[in-house]
Amino acid sequence: MATNITLTMIKPDAVRAGNIGNILKDIEAGGFRIKAMRYYHMSKTVAGRFYEVHAERPFYGELVEFMSSGPIVAAVLEKENAVADFRTLIGATNPKEAAPGTIRAKYATSIGENAVHGSDSDENAALEASFHFASRDMI
Ligand code: CMP
Repeated sequence: MATNITLTMIKPDAVRAGNIGNILKDIEAGGFRIKAMRYYHMSKTVAGRFYEVHAERPFYGELVEFMSSGPIVAAVLEKENAVADFRTLIGATNPKEAAPGTIRAKYATSIGENAVHGSDSDENAALEASFHFASRDMI
Protein backbone atom coordinates (compact mmCIF):
# COMPACT_ATOMS: atom_id res chain seq x y z
CA MET A 1 0.00 0.00 0.00
CA ALA A 2 1.25 3.49 -0.79
CA THR A 3 2.66 5.57 2.05
CA ASN A 4 0.22 8.34 2.86
CA ILE A 5 -0.46 11.10 5.34
CA THR A 6 -2.73 12.18 8.14
CA LEU A 7 -3.02 15.47 10.03
CA THR A 8 -2.93 15.63 13.80
CA MET A 9 -3.24 18.41 16.33
CA ILE A 10 -2.13 18.03 19.93
CA LYS A 11 -4.93 20.07 21.48
CA PRO A 12 -4.69 22.86 24.12
CA ASP A 13 -5.67 20.53 27.01
CA ALA A 14 -2.77 18.15 26.29
CA VAL A 15 -0.33 21.05 25.74
CA ARG A 16 -1.40 22.61 29.09
CA ALA A 17 -0.99 19.26 30.84
CA GLY A 18 2.61 18.96 29.60
CA ASN A 19 1.90 15.96 27.37
CA ILE A 20 3.44 17.09 24.05
CA GLY A 21 6.49 14.88 24.60
CA ASN A 22 4.48 11.84 25.74
CA ILE A 23 2.13 12.07 22.76
CA LEU A 24 4.93 12.57 20.20
CA LYS A 25 6.68 9.54 21.71
CA ASP A 26 3.54 7.41 21.24
CA ILE A 27 3.17 8.71 17.67
CA GLU A 28 6.77 7.80 16.75
CA ALA A 29 6.53 4.44 18.55
CA GLY A 30 3.41 3.79 16.44
CA GLY A 31 5.55 3.96 13.30
CA PHE A 32 4.59 7.43 12.09
CA ARG A 33 7.19 9.76 10.57
CA ILE A 34 6.75 13.46 11.36
CA LYS A 35 6.77 15.16 7.97
CA ALA A 36 5.95 18.69 9.16
CA MET A 37 5.30 20.17 12.60
CA ARG A 38 4.21 23.56 13.95
CA TYR A 39 3.51 24.90 17.49
CA TYR A 40 1.16 27.89 17.53
CA HIS A 41 -1.87 29.52 19.08
CA MET A 42 -4.87 29.54 16.72
CA SER A 43 -7.10 32.60 16.84
CA LYS A 44 -10.86 32.04 17.09
CA THR A 45 -11.14 32.89 13.41
CA VAL A 46 -8.55 30.31 12.43
CA ALA A 47 -9.99 27.58 14.71
CA GLY A 48 -13.47 28.36 13.42
CA ARG A 49 -12.30 27.96 9.85
CA PHE A 50 -10.52 24.66 10.55
CA TYR A 51 -13.71 23.19 12.05
CA GLU A 52 -16.08 24.88 9.58
CA VAL A 53 -17.53 21.46 8.57
CA HIS A 54 -18.99 21.26 12.09
CA ALA A 55 -20.48 24.79 12.00
CA GLU A 56 -24.06 23.51 12.31
CA ARG A 57 -23.31 21.18 15.23
CA PRO A 58 -24.47 22.27 18.71
CA PHE A 59 -20.93 21.95 20.10
CA TYR A 60 -19.28 24.14 17.42
CA GLY A 61 -19.00 27.29 19.60
CA GLU A 62 -17.52 25.34 22.49
CA LEU A 63 -15.12 23.53 20.13
CA VAL A 64 -13.84 26.80 18.62
CA GLU A 65 -13.45 28.41 22.10
CA PHE A 66 -11.48 25.42 23.32
CA MET A 67 -9.26 25.04 20.26
CA SER A 68 -8.32 28.73 20.47
CA SER A 69 -7.79 28.66 24.27
CA GLY A 70 -4.04 27.97 24.04
CA PRO A 71 -1.30 26.73 21.73
CA ILE A 72 -1.54 23.50 19.76
CA VAL A 73 0.97 21.33 17.92
CA ALA A 74 -0.11 20.62 14.35
CA ALA A 75 1.74 17.87 12.50
CA VAL A 76 1.60 16.00 9.23
CA LEU A 77 2.32 12.32 9.83
CA GLU A 78 3.40 9.80 7.23
CA LYS A 79 2.88 6.04 7.30
CA GLU A 80 1.27 3.32 5.22
CA ASN A 81 -2.47 3.43 5.90
CA ALA A 82 -1.90 6.62 7.94
CA VAL A 83 -5.51 7.75 8.47
CA ALA A 84 -6.90 4.45 9.76
CA ASP A 85 -3.79 3.48 11.73
CA PHE A 86 -3.68 6.88 13.44
CA ARG A 87 -7.34 6.65 14.43
CA THR A 88 -6.56 3.26 15.99
CA LEU A 89 -3.59 4.76 17.86
CA ILE A 90 -5.62 7.66 19.29
CA GLY A 91 -8.82 5.73 20.14
CA ALA A 92 -12.48 6.80 20.11
CA THR A 93 -13.46 10.50 20.10
CA ASN A 94 -14.99 10.07 23.56
CA PRO A 95 -12.12 9.03 25.87
CA LYS A 96 -14.56 7.01 27.98
CA GLU A 97 -14.96 4.74 24.94
CA ALA A 98 -11.29 4.78 23.89
CA ALA A 99 -9.47 1.43 24.06
CA PRO A 100 -6.93 1.08 26.88
CA GLY A 101 -3.45 2.24 25.90
CA THR A 102 -4.68 4.62 23.19
CA ILE A 103 -3.59 8.27 23.32
CA ARG A 104 -7.08 9.51 24.22
CA ALA A 105 -7.50 6.84 26.91
CA LYS A 106 -4.22 7.99 28.47
CA TYR A 107 -4.36 11.77 28.04
CA ALA A 108 -7.91 12.97 27.26
CA THR A 109 -10.49 14.03 29.82
CA SER A 110 -13.76 14.49 27.89
CA ILE A 111 -15.28 14.33 24.40
CA GLY A 112 -14.60 18.05 23.97
CA GLU A 113 -11.12 18.09 25.55
CA ASN A 114 -9.86 14.94 23.89
CA ALA A 115 -6.10 15.62 23.63
CA VAL A 116 -5.62 15.02 19.89
CA HIS A 117 -7.23 15.39 16.50
CA GLY A 118 -6.85 12.88 13.67
CA SER A 119 -8.12 13.22 10.09
CA ASP A 120 -11.09 11.01 9.18
CA SER A 121 -10.30 10.38 5.48
CA ASP A 122 -7.46 10.73 2.97
CA GLU A 123 -9.32 13.61 1.35
CA ASN A 124 -9.66 15.50 4.65
CA ALA A 125 -6.04 14.70 5.59
CA ALA A 126 -4.87 16.51 2.44
CA LEU A 127 -7.20 19.47 3.07
CA GLU A 128 -6.23 19.73 6.76
CA ALA A 129 -2.49 19.41 6.03
CA SER A 130 -2.70 22.26 3.53
CA PHE A 131 -4.68 24.32 6.07
CA HIS A 132 -1.73 24.37 8.50
CA PHE A 133 1.26 23.99 6.17
CA ALA A 134 2.60 25.28 2.87
CA SER A 135 3.40 22.63 0.26
CA ARG A 136 7.13 23.40 0.65
CA ASP A 137 6.92 22.31 4.32
CA MET A 138 5.72 18.83 3.37
CA ILE A 139 8.36 17.72 0.84
P1 CMP B 1 -11.90 16.09 16.51
O1 CMP B 1 -11.44 14.74 16.05
O2 CMP B 1 -10.90 17.15 16.65
O3 CMP B 1 -13.04 16.58 15.50
C1 CMP B 1 -14.20 17.26 15.90
C2 CMP B 1 -14.23 17.51 17.37
O4 CMP B 1 -15.46 17.91 17.89
C3 CMP B 1 -13.93 16.22 18.10
O5 CMP B 1 -12.59 15.88 17.93
C4 CMP B 1 -14.36 16.55 19.52
O6 CMP B 1 -13.32 17.12 20.28
C5 CMP B 1 -15.44 17.58 19.27
N1 CMP B 1 -16.72 17.01 19.65
C6 CMP B 1 -17.36 15.99 19.08
N2 CMP B 1 -18.53 15.76 19.73
C7 CMP B 1 -18.60 16.66 20.73
C8 CMP B 1 -19.56 16.93 21.75
N3 CMP B 1 -20.68 16.19 21.84
N4 CMP B 1 -19.31 17.93 22.59
C9 CMP B 1 -18.18 18.68 22.46
N5 CMP B 1 -17.25 18.47 21.53
C10 CMP B 1 -17.45 17.47 20.68
